[in-house]
Amino acid sequence: MVETYDQDEHWMSLALQLAAGGRGRVEPNPMVGCVLTKNGSGIASGYHREFGGRHAEVEALLSMVSPLDAKGATAYVTLEPCCHHGKTPPCSDALIRAGVARVVVAMRDPYPQVDGGGIRQLQDAGIDVTVGVLQHDAQALNAPYLKRVSTGVPWVIAKWAMTADGRIATVAGQSQWISGTASRQQVHQLRARVDAIVVGMGTVVADDPMLNARLADSESEEVRPARVAKRVVLCRQRLPAADSKLILTASDLPTWLMASPLVDAAELRRLEERGAVVFELTTDDRREMVRQSLQRLGEHSMTNVMVEAGPELLGSLMGDQQHPCLIDEFHVYVGGLLFGGKSAPGPVAGSGVGAIELAPKLKLHRVDQFDDDVRMIYRLNRS
Ligand SMILES: NC(=O)c1ccc[n+]([C@@H]2O[C@H](COP(=O)([O-])OP(=O)(O)OC[C@H]3O[C@@H](n4cnc5c(N)ncnc54)[C@H](OP(=O)(O)O)[C@@H]3O)[C@@H](O)[C@H]2O)c1
Repeated sequence: MVETYDQDEHWMSLALQLAAGGRGRVEPNPMVGCVLTKNGSGIASGYHREFGGRHAEVEALLSMVSPLDAKGATAYVTLEPCCHHGKTPPCSDALIRAGVARVVVAMRDPYPQVDGGGIRQLQDAGIDVTVGVLQHDAQALNAPYLKRVSTGVPWVIAKWAMTADGRIATVAGQSQWISGTASRQQVHQLRARVDAIVVGMGTVVADDPMLNARLADSESEEVRPARVAKRVVLCRQRLPAADSKLILTASDLPTWLMASPLVDAAELRRLEERGAVVFELTTDDRREMVRQSLQRLGEHSMTNVMVEAGPELLGSLMGDQQHPCLIDEFHVYVGGLLFGGKSAPGPVAGSGVGAIELAPKLKLHRVDQFDDDVRMIYRLNRS
């Protein structure tokens, strides 16, 4: 039986759902899912579960009772099968050896050692290859991976909580808590899957945060954090106090200080001795500091970084007329409170835009309700 395009979309959509199961555990690898079908029925499936583990195609092939069943099957894969020896052998070889007749790929893998090579290898082996089924969905799923591979810089997720009237603190500077318990659990889940949590010194001084993932039931296997994020502080003039929570726990939880040349060098060394990891930036220009910091995080193979800063650092990331917005995704929590007050701050400072047409355009990605809070996830619309 020949699959129609609708069937292709159906099976690819299943493969994409499976792929998402690897979120937080596979990075810096991409999330990949695979479904094998024969005569219009699904016969096996798998996904890349964790970094260093088996790839989706191999997971699917190994899940079959008899490997011979793959002969003549169609494989739906959310990303071009790899064709190089990385941590595991090439998936293109595995599919060819298994005798699949057709491979449907959602999108090409721009990773330099693949980049069309996997597709070519399958075609050279006489396999019918279709590329581009649910490509947009596959690109959206792996947007952080695609950004890192093409730019060397991680995907930046800014998160803030604000009142229904758009304030992040009262006129007296109080900000805890604007969102409720259920929203805050969502934030902890995000912290548990990103590579870094970034703040500025304003937040360290005001809130003395721990910046770790505290999941509701962290004893249970299902909710164990997928990874431990580095806690990253941008320090332009001030440094965290020696008795701040971040420094007191620096030998247990990674704490990275991105320091401009303006900070006290002797104090910086003392914090390093207490376990902080120091990155010396070559500039005190706010925008350039942000750029250099993100570059450094990318050099450490980070895919997703979360910014939980106050308005000053978010303003530097937002950019201005000359500089593009450096935030890719926005997690905006609106709590059921009104703060009012002319001087109560909003979430983003910086120079702002004077004309509406200069405002960065955002695309609504999803909306969720948690009790009386709403979370809106936007992505920067670069088109
Ligand atoms: N509602 C929320 O979601 C939320 C989240 C976080 C914070 N907050 C609130 O925000 C307030 C703090 O605001 P904030 O704006 O001062 O916090 P921030 O953005 O976290 O920190 C700003 C400070 O970081 C340092 N910094 C280093 N590099 C920077 C750069 N490239 N660009 C900008 N700043 C840089 C500067 O201090 P130095 O020059 O001294 O190094 C600057 O004053 C607190 O009331 C906190 O509770 C609210």
